[in-house]
Amino acid sequence: MSYFDDVSEAAHFLRSKLGRLQPHLGIVLGSGLGAAAEAVRDQVVVPYASIPHFPKSTVEGHSGRLVAGMLGGAPVIVMQGRVHFYEGYSLKDVTFPMRVMGALGVRAVILTNAAGGIAERYKIGQLVLIADHINMMGCNPLVGPNDPRFAFDRTNSGLRFFDMSDAYSKRLRQVAIQVTEMEGQALEEGIYLAVSGPSFETPAEIRAYRTMGATLVGMSTVPETIVARHMGIEVLGISCVTNLAAGLSATPLSHAEVFEAGKQVERKLAELLDHLAMWIAALVDSES
Ligand code: HPA
Repeated sequence: MSYFDDVSEAAHFLRSKLGRLQPHLGIVLGSGLGAAAEAVRDQVVVPYASIPHFPKSTVEGHSGRLVAGMLGGAPVIVMQGRVHFYEGYSLKDVTFPMRVMGALGVRAVILTNAAGGIAERYKIGQLVLIADHINMMGCNPLVGPNDPRFAFDRTNSGLRFFDMSDAYSKRLRQVAIQVTEMEGQALEEGIYLAVSGPSFETPAEIRAYRTMGATLVGMSTVPETIVARHMGIEVLGISCVTNLAAGLSATPLSHAEVFEAGKQVERKLAELLDHLAMWIAALVDSES
């Protein structure tokens, strides 16, 4: 069985669980950010462990289940937890769920994560839109044979070489900014730099990353964005600043601190996702 066959089998299994629900919007909830799934109505819950070939998360704070249903009046499919490269999974495993979303007909994804703030102006608990990324993981999920069958949208996706200059959809970012403005709040944009982890960065690395133009640092999202773009899926990225990056605060970094701060912003994130879902679903629905 090929990787594509495994993806098809998982998608087939999920289709049988979803019944008539046809979500065009997918959401991935990062470390300690799972609460947004609670607002999903008419839930169909599928544990990752029951899905053929699906990787299972091993980190505390990632509950590892798929929740499908209605959010803000739009059909959505939500991944509550993801697996990471640092857990020992290959980037093919890490991005397997994103491939399955593509096979299910998802046209836009919202990728969320916990991130360290490199920009001095960021406050802990702030939500930042990802405008672009820098991949410092040292690898790319598309290394290996190219399978053009992943071009589910029948456009020019599925290519061996493809453009990444609008990886984080400008129009989805504009929607997110407008939706937050309607609530009297502001949403900043930043540059997310991905590292493999699991160790946090050294202060010297953070200084180097700042010089490179990064304002956020984290251990996820970038592989998923690359694979989503390979399939022609639009991406909106949202980081929750859970801590100041290494060297910027007097206290040492810990997973507990990241997890706790995540818990404090997850309500704010859940609210934003609830409001965004309808707008983004309406945009992509009108095109399918
Ligand atoms: N570094 C890398 N990944 C992270 C951080 C960080 O400071 N905070 C949350 N995820």
